[in-house]
Amino acid sequence: MAEAQSNHRLSGDGPFTRRCQQWIERNTGSAKALLTHSCTSALDLAALLLDVKAGDEIILPSFTFVSTANAFVLRGAVPVFVDIRPDTLNLDERLIEAAITPRTRAIVPVHYAGVACEMDAIVAIARRHDLRIVEDAAQGIRAGYKGRALGAIGDLGCFSFHETKNIISGEGGGLLVRDSGLVSRAEIIREKGTDRSRFFRGEVDKYTWQDVGSSFLPGELVAAYLWAQLEQAERITAERIAIWKRYHELLAPLEAEGLLRRPIIPVDCQHNGHIYYILIAPETDRDYLLGEWRRRGIHAVFHYVPLHSSPAGRRFGRAHGELSLTTSLSHRLVRLPMWLGLGEAEQQRVCDALEAILRK
Ligand SMILES: Cc1ncc(COP(=O)(O)O)c(C=O)c1O
Repeated sequence: MAEAQSNHRLSGDGPFTRRCQQWIERNTGSAKALLTHSCTSALDLAALLLDVKAGDEIILPSFTFVSTANAFVLRGAVPVFVDIRPDTLNLDERLIEAAITPRTRAIVPVHYAGVACEMDAIVAIARRHDLRIVEDAAQGIRAGYKGRALGAIGDLGCFSFHETKNIISGEGGGLLVRDSGLVSRAEIIREKGTDRSRFFRGEVDKYTWQDVGSSFLPGELVAAYLWAQLEQAERITAERIAIWKRYHELLAPLEAEGLLRRPIIPVDCQHNGHIYYILIAPETDRDYLLGEWRRRGIHAVFHYVPLHSSPAGRRFGRAHGELSLTTSLSHRLVRLPMWLGLGEAEQQRVCDALEAILRK
């Protein structure tokens, strides 16, 4: 941060932004990475870049954060919600094709908890139907699918560096552009619709209004904070995976007894330890569990309220089919406390309390 200040360059696209973007490109194999204010703004940028228009349909899960849908609704598109897989809670690739209509423009897989969607199948469907793929990899940094980095498999990918994520800068995000043909326009849209990025590189002698756009680039203080995190990304990820594995071992006996279900990681997915969640038995009262934990000083949360059941989701979107797994699994999901530095004794206490509550 001090270096950013002494550079006398606090606006965007300075040396720290460049370092971060190059790091992301090196680590994901993406043709271009562009820092943004958030994953939300990366998704907004993606929707503009793909020229998503009123009446277009976008296929996505209902079990996700609002930004996945909002980016496209802002352009007048209709989110078409498809059910999730019972194992990973990710978009069920087997249901996508039946949801495609002549208006479908893109598929937006969300890699929940840093566990990859079945990308080979999704890429094959997109190719067959000439659709774009925008990966919502908000939770996916340093996670992979068959050895490829999440965010860099689809046409575009979106990362979040919000403080709740693995790698953070307070608010922050990044757009990954796999198709080099889209890079130049992505830079223009991100810089208020101007070719200022080319001007800074000395490629044009002045910059002018070229296209639609807005201001999507963060300042250098944010990029400097992010750089310090990226330098530690390997250690941070390894530590989170260690915490994740400890929960997984501690909870094996409760799963064996049928009191809960632990996360399932398919062999092709290299996850990043972002979230440890459990699915409680359908007959267990989640509010009671969270209340009893809270009484013991343990704060746990759940998410997401399925978008198709929320007021805006009903207004702007369309559910494809019953979405019965989305509804039932989201009601049973609980996220366990998870932060860098969470100790073994604290994890033991969380699991002991869980066992006592579930056995009551
Ligand atoms: C799946 C998903 N998409 C998008 C976002 C939005 O990220 P941001 O807060 O960086 O805008 C989140 C944030 O929690 C998320 O979980």
